[in-house]
Amino acid sequence: MTFADDPSVAVVRPTPESDAELAFEGALRPKSLAEFVGQAKVRAQLHLLLDAARIQNRTPDHILLAGPPGLGKTTLAMIVAEESGRPLRMSSGPAIQHAGDLAAVLSSLVPGEILFIDEIHRMARSAEEMLYLAMEDFRIDIMVGKGAGATSIPLDLAPFTLVGATTRSGMLPNPLRDRFGFTAHLEFYSEPELEQVLTRAAALLGLTVDRGALAEIAGRCRGTPRIANRLLRRVRDYALVHDDEVGLRSVHAALELYDVDQLGLDRLDRAVMDIILTRFDGGPVGLNTLAVSVGEEAETIESVVEPFLVRIGLLTRTPRGRVATRLAWKHFGLSESSGILFGDDL
Ligand SMILES: Nc1ncnc2c1ncn2[C@@H]1O[C@H](COP(=O)(O)OP(=O)(O)O)[C@@H](O)[C@H]1O
Ligand SMILES: [Mg+2]
Repeated sequence: MTFADDPSVAVVRPTPESDAELAFEGALRPKSLAEFVGQAKVRAQLHLLLDAARIQNRTPDHILLAGPPGLGKTTLAMIVAEESGRPLRMSSGPAIQHAGDLAAVLSSLVPGEILFIDEIHRMARSAEEMLYLAMEDFRIDIMVGKGAGATSIPLDLAPFTLVGATTRSGMLPNPLRDRFGFTAHLEFYSEPELEQVLTRAAALLGLTVDRGALAEIAGRCRGTPRIANRLLRRVRDYALVHDDEVGLRSVHAALELYDVDQLGLDRLDRAVMDIILTRFDGGPVGLNTLAVSVGEEAETIESVVEPFLVRIGLLTRTPRGRVATRLAWKHFGLSESSGILFGDDL
């Protein structure tokens, strides 16, 4: 049985995309470590871990994949299963609201199965505690009954490998983090790497796209393969509708239509920067204030928006809050602390 047949296991949907969008993403997912672009260090580390397990004929160590959305965590989990020739079960933190939910999944694993738990930091506390024992000794204690008459029944599990994914590794309790044999921190991709991702995607989609167009998309996708592929799709749509080539002209037109700016910032990125610059005079601004001001959850600001803004040097995190950098004032065409527009590149 695969996870798709199992009604007790929720299939992970990171964002509410359309089915077409998900199918598109699935079709472009690399199937092996060799096909996986970039993250050279992580790839080499995973290779070693899987090879060693194979030689010793045991289940690979538990693996934690940490990093912002769209950098390849789900893809890597699938590759781990594929490369080690093991079945894969998929679940997610939000689907595990009680220890019982986790017990049901764990007790039905077949020997050597890879269990992928996406957004593992959102799992219920009681389930987290059950997971400690399961990861360490492949054993759980199931509570039967309530109150004074409650007893716990030990249950042996089949050996398995847990692959956890999280956009917020800092939210994981230490005992859980410590039980992973290997933690991979995924980084944003460089432009040449993103060009490689796009070249591969264009080939799979049967598109002829010139290098200049791919380079332009690579420079405006927030260092994120998922966004690169999505922009490529929008550009293809644009070219199709306007009976144009999938070239630089379509790229510019499509990116403008979808509000992607020179640095690849999207609407939410710009809203966050705008609040810090114009309402709070460059900061410092606390995370919660910021979240309320743009009408988003603090978690989204912290795990989706900020990492990229920090990475490209528009924002710094200080103990007193978020502060805009000089580069940010310049990029948004504002003069520091006066809030007066001096450029026309907004
Ligand atoms: N290293 C990579 N090489 C090629 N494509 C990638 C890579 N990482 C991600 N992708 C593409 O980006 C999409 C999103 O990746 P995914 O693994 O779902 O990200 P995450 O789970 O971290 O949010 C995938 O469908 C895949 O096509
Ligand atoms: Mg994912």
